[in-house]
Amino acid sequence: MTVQSISVRVLSKRIKAPGIAAYTLGAEGGQVLPDYAAGAHIDVKLPNGLIRQYSLCGDRADPATYEIGVLRDGAGRGGSAYLHDTVREGDLLEIGEPRNLFPLTPARHSVLLAGGIGITPLLAMARSLATSGSSFEFHYFVRSEDRAAYWDTLSRLAPDEALYLHVGERIPASFAVARVLGAPSPDTHLYTCGPNPFMDAVLDLARSAGWDAANLHSERFAAVTGGDDQPFELELAASGKVVQVSADQTAAEALALAGVRLPLSCEQGICGTCLTTVLAGVPDHRDSYLSEDERLANDCFTPCRSRARTPRLTINL
Ligand code: FES
Repeated sequence: MTVQSISVRVLSKRIKAPGIAAYTLGAEGGQVLPDYAAGAHIDVKLPNGLIRQYSLCGDRADPATYEIGVLRDGAGRGGSAYLHDTVREGDLLEIGEPRNLFPLTPARHSVLLAGGIGITPLLAMARSLATSGSSFEFHYFVRSEDRAAYWDTLSRLAPDEALYLHVGERIPASFAVARVLGAPSPDTHLYTCGPNPFMDAVLDLARSAGWDAANLHSERFAAVTGGDDQPFELELAASGKVVQVSADQTAAEALALAGVRLPLSCEQGICGTCLTTVLAGVPDHRDSYLSEDERLANDCFTPCRSRARTPRLTINL
């Protein structure tokens, strides 16, 4: 997937909560930036070569700027730490055009559940729903009150009775989530974003409560971990060449060593940039990008993360 690159300047950097900074980005000359819908994210190409995805959470009333909120993750792969520690107001960054893998679905009512920094795409959704006068409720789960970044913004968007701040020090998140979910309804959609354990708990509880999978929407910031890594083979359909993928390599790494460089972005199975067609064999899907139906079709996989259930995958390369 080729995404147009845009040069932007960091117009402001503000601390929103401990470890969370908001960056306002503007195109040179105040030009209008490409429009986007709530739930969209951009690739941020950092000067150190890392590419990271961040949700757009700003106000589209200002078409010349984007805003991203970034949690400094000391245990992460270095992108957020670089942004926090090195990027300053006035710096230039390269970004990709907005992409939206987490769009809103028209519904009678929407339930938004954010865990920590997962607020960013859901804040954009709250803005959109508030602007269109749509019914929604927002549940924000944080470890402590001082970590509730953007709560002030939310409070200006929606009436108090639509906003719920769940502070982990007072009530366990799973208990609060179970109460929030209530009885499912075909015209109510649920959106969740946050750390993987939080989202897994929300989605498991929703399924157990009888929510239809089509009404559940989520976006992950981090790769799904787990799975037993076994070696497998990739056969390249165009040349018949066979590439061995060892247990400690990704398919994308093995392909690169064999001279086949795939377009990569998140390298965590989140963005879909490396999606590759599978002609034979069964992938072991480890991504957070494909829908359940797309996984069951087994006709594509994300080589940056996913592996194989069969000894060989034949891919359309
Ligand atoms: S590079 Fe993002 S899914 Fe593979």
